[in-house]
Amino acid sequence: MIPFKKTFFISTAIDYPSSKPHLGHAYEKISTDIIARFRRLQGFDVHFSTGTDEHGIKMQRSAGRAGKAPQQFVDEMSLHFKELCERLGISYDDFIRTTEQRHTKAVLAIYKAVKKRGDIYKGTYTGNYCVECETFYTETEAPDRQCPTHKKNLEEVKEESYFFRMGRYQKRLVAHIKKNKDFIVPESRRNEILSRLEEPLHDLSISRTTFKWGIPLPDDKRHVMYVWFDALVNYLSSIGYPEKRYKKYWPAVHVIGKDIAWHHTVIWGSILLSAGIPLPKTVLVHGFVNVGGEKMSKSRGTVIDPVHIKKKYSSDYLRFFLAREIPFGEDGDFSEDALIDRVNNELIANYGNLFYRATHFAKANFGGAVPSAKHGNDERYIAQLMKKTKKNAEKHMEQYRIDLALKEILSLAGEVNKYFQKKKPWDADKKDAATCIYTSLNALRTITLLLQPYVPEAASKALKALGVKSSKWSDIDIFALKPGTNIDAVILFKKIDEEEISRKDELSETQSVLSKGGKYVKFEDFQRMDMRIGTVLDVKDHPNADKLFLVKVDIGGEVRQLVVGLKGIGYTKEQLLGKQVVVLTNLEPAKLRGEVSEGMLLACDDGTLLTPEKKVKDGIKIR
Ligand code: MSP
Repeated sequence: MIPFKKTFFISTAIDYPSSKPHLGHAYEKISTDIIARFRRLQGFDVHFSTGTDEHGIKMQRSAGRAGKAPQQFVDEMSLHFKELCERLGISYDDFIRTTEQRHTKAVLAIYKAVKKRGDIYKGTYTGNYCVECETFYTETEAPDRQCPTHKKNLEEVKEESYFFRMGRYQKRLVAHIKKNKDFIVPESRRNEILSRLEEPLHDLSISRTTFKWGIPLPDDKRHVMYVWFDALVNYLSSIGYPEKRYKKYWPAVHVIGKDIAWHHTVIWGSILLSAGIPLPKTVLVHGFVNVGGEKMSKSRGTVIDPVHIKKKYSSDYLRFFLAREIPFGEDGDFSEDALIDRVNNELIANYGNLFYRATHFAKANFGGAVPSAKHGNDERYIAQLMKKTKKNAEKHMEQYRIDLALKEILSLAGEVNKYFQKKKPWDADKKDAATCIYTSLNALRTITLLLQPYVPEAASKALKALGVKSSKWSDIDIFALKPGTNIDAVILFKKIDEEEISRKDELSETQSVLSKGGKYVKFEDFQRMDMRIGTVLDVKDHPNADKLFLVKVDIGGEVRQLVVGLKGIGYTKEQLLGKQVVVLTNLEPAKLRGEVSEGMLLACDDGTLLTPEKKVKDGIKIR
């Protein structure tokens, strides 16, 4: 009979692939992976999902800026997130993309269930919207009409929209949160949500008509689904909803950042209540990874590329550092100095060196096999510590404190080090040396098994060296390495040499100065500019500026509005109408005196407009 395994479903948020992943994305994936691996170690049948959130206006605009069709854009960008998972050893079972068929199917099924409940109605929405987080903000949340997260001006949006009667679920949500202490973890986040729920809960606008890139509503195709209503359902699509098999893994533990706790508890909670599906087991909210005490920022150049860090150090080192450094649930800081310090002085000094010393000693003195031993008090003490460590690590993991569990494991390594130093096998007689090596190797087996979720690459090497082929949760903390087992001496880690690292840095800086240096741009930089031919369809005076025109240009099936300064240098409307021009199409849209400009017309410094020598097809690219 196949033994029944308890199931465990854990998910990360699905990331917006509008730009490449940053260290915050990596942190969430690593933390979730550590929990997933730990659960597998405990014998659970785990389903671990991650993926990308690919619809919505943000993605449509990013694709436009890159000069690509949205589908092609997300296909390419999503790969960076998948690749990040491979590089960091993220052991996901499913990488879900919201542009997949199976996801659309699940979204439509949820929409149908919610509608059947009488929770969908048509109305008009006016609100202040942040495109970056695809979220409307109320006046209380954003009194200065700036996004609280991105500090960018909010856009006023007014449109016909379908609404979800979220307000109906306020009481039931509050009751659920109060009754289930583990629904929102940590407690500080739980209190925040409860206090926001003291205000009346409004219904939620769940459809848009102002853009097309999303799932159309089945009963009114002019509308596309609001990206959050669409995205949250990914957790169900990943486990096969609407087919019954989803029940095998549901309910889930959702690991997410503090900025989207509301979406996962209140919005997702009400959708599920409406659809008659049990609420998630836990919404586990982590803090942000900052740099120099502040949020990573593109303009300050502090966005950390996790792939770069992985290549410079290693996946294990980055995983170890993030798990060890940041109290799970709180914000933490990333710096390479702190990483070097933690890796060299904790991981390597406590565990790596001991591993080498014990295995090397066994190789040199006991023919590469585990020697047999006679237990005394010191050995019994180590045996007790092994049990206590497993128990405490498990207890911390129940609270999802991956940082505290790791601290516990490292402290066992510290104690075994002390034991090794005290016993001095190099000075001791053969019998005592054998006892020390037997005990140390067994403790190292326990430590390695428990460290596996944190540093999977090194742990797999270490287990191979110790001849451990399999293990059960119940025997992790016992002396399971039998005398006579063949072992190998291995160096698991290379100490990070700061001088070598700074030499590497200098080299890459020189290379980038050479390529960026004042006079030249790289060919790739030029290629990133998307310039196309377009025909001027319409020219109007700018309502708020004397010297500007509002020009509509057809750039091959797409009409863009541009704000141009040609009026100020003597061009007339008639001269411009019907003219073919060159447009830089992937310049970030900007508001100029209250009017949006979605690109730039190219002209010479003296104001002469660039135009092709003969008529060409609109939309043709300049190279
Ligand atoms: N697409 C939405 C999530 C939809 S889930 C149904 C989204 N995407 S995101 O790419 O902006 O963020 C993905 C995850 O990364 C979120 O959980 C977010 O909190 C997390 N992080 C983004 N920046 C972060 C840090 N600097 N540090 C840690 N995590 C942060 O939101």
